[in-house]
Amino acid sequence: MKSRLLFLGPPGAGKGTQAKLLCENQGLIHLSTGDLLRAEVNAQSPLGKEAALIMNKGELVSDEIVLSIVQKRLSADAKSGWLLDGFPRNLIQAQSLQQLLENVSQPIQAVLLIELDDETLIKRLLSRGRSDDTQEVIRHRLEVYREKTAPLVDFYQSLGILVKIQGEGDVKDVALTIRSALGLVM
Ligand code: AP5
Ligand code: MG
Repeated sequence: MKSRLLFLGPPGAGKGTQAKLLCENQGLIHLSTGDLLRAEVNAQSPLGKEAALIMNKGELVSDEIVLSIVQKRLSADAKSGWLLDGFPRNLIQAQSLQQLLENVSQPIQAVLLIELDDETLIKRLLSRGRSDDTQEVIRHRLEVYREKTAPLVDFYQSLGILVKIQGEGDVKDVALTIRSALGLVM
């Protein structure tokens, strides 16, 4: 069974929605850096206050902040299996993650890329209505994804662990597609 997974894909592709379902089904820990950062924002911690300014512009929060959050969670939760969602977001984060996991002999077993056309992504995000789901910020998050995160597709493909699926269709159908693409039993 695969118990160390990573979900990759543009904003609105359904990473969070599908990660939650799969983690409930497979007993994995869902580590979403977006959710962890939003928890800091809601708690109005110093880190949260700093992050909020960046998140509301659709920019990436600093690697230092994000890596410290992930490192803390992975060292506490590493044994039971996890699914990383929204992390890594650039090559520096990906390389740091490789190093971190190598040190504990727990390599990623599969990276799932959820692909979806821009029109559908934008429509989904606008109807969700998070504070960073405005036309302008969504457009910028998509640019940041293309420039900084999309190169990770080649990075993980070259490691031989990339699996691609299409994110169209209803939530249940996409969930089935994901489980079958990852070879997971239901
Ligand atoms: P993050 O929270 O990761 O947001 P994102 O990448 O923009 O992605 P979303 O959460 O918007 O999309 P998703 O793919 O999870 O889709 P979802 O399932 O919600 O990051 C936010 C910010 O935090 C970043 O901009 C950055 O500032 C910062 N950050 C986070 N991680 C970072 C990192 N590693 N480094 C630096 N900065 C970082 O679905 C979207 C909507 O569609 C929902 O309403 C959902 O209900 C709906 N939906 C889902 N599936 C379907 C379906 N099949 N049919 C119809 N509707 C659907
Ligand atoms: Mg998300």
